[in-house]
Amino acid sequence: MEKNNNFRSIGATTYLSPVPVVMLGCADPENNVKPNLITVAWAGIVCSKPPMVSVSIRKERYSHGIIRNTGEFTINLTSQELCRATDFCGVKSGRDVDKFAEMKLTAIPAPGLSVAPAVAEAPAFLSCKVKEIIELGSHDLFLAEVVDVNIAQQYFTESGAINEEAMDLVGFVHGKYRAMSDVLGFFGYSIASDEALERRGMKR
Ligand SMILES: Cc1cc2nc3c(=O)[nH]c(=O)nc-3n(C[C@H](O)[C@H](O)[C@H](O)COP(=O)(O)O)c2cc1C
Repeated sequence: MEKNNNFRSIGATTYLSPVPVVMLGCADPENNVKPNLITVAWAGIVCSKPPMVSVSIRKERYSHGIIRNTGEFTINLTSQELCRATDFCGVKSGRDVDKFAEMKLTAIPAPGLSVAPAVAEAPAFLSCKVKEIIELGSHDLFLAEVVDVNIAQQYFTESGAINEEAMDLVGFVHGKYRAMSDVLGFFGYSIASDEALERRGMKR
């Protein structure tokens, strides 16, 4: 391979983009901890069978102790409508404010979990049980199994398909919230037949 001078190093950073931005729901009623939300962008899918996710949370976050103690949380997907609330839940601590009340969000029980609340206004949420916590440095990595996924009724079509486009989901790109509106392709479209492309309304 020949040396390529077309790039400039900015050093070793967390430059991976785009990433999801979601609100995690947690609570610990046994210890009088009310439902709380923390926004995280360091989140991902790590296994399909069993379905598992990872979220990275700094030790100093109020939510860190709650999730560590109860071993459960919800992942609430962010729609454009929920974008402001998502930001708020990422700049205010549950130690000081009731984020559900401030953002006029509704805490609802999450199927499969005992205490962690979901956000009724979210387009969809995942119920997650913590399997392992790995100390990495600035953040602790919570590996969790997804025990249920719930999607708001309004996003199901008559045939039972899920209309994800209608969710108006939001992503996070280098410090900015971005709409994910334009569809550029579908899984495998680069090798799909003309017939499959036409059926899905796309051109080669
Ligand atoms: C867009 C965005 C992404 C964030 N991602 C993370 C993250 O991945 N991990 C983390 O520990 N904190 C993250 N934060 C910061 C926490 O959400 C923030 O410190 C929050 O106030 C903690 O709430 P708590 O003290 O109620 O737990 C993020 C904040 C924003 C705005």
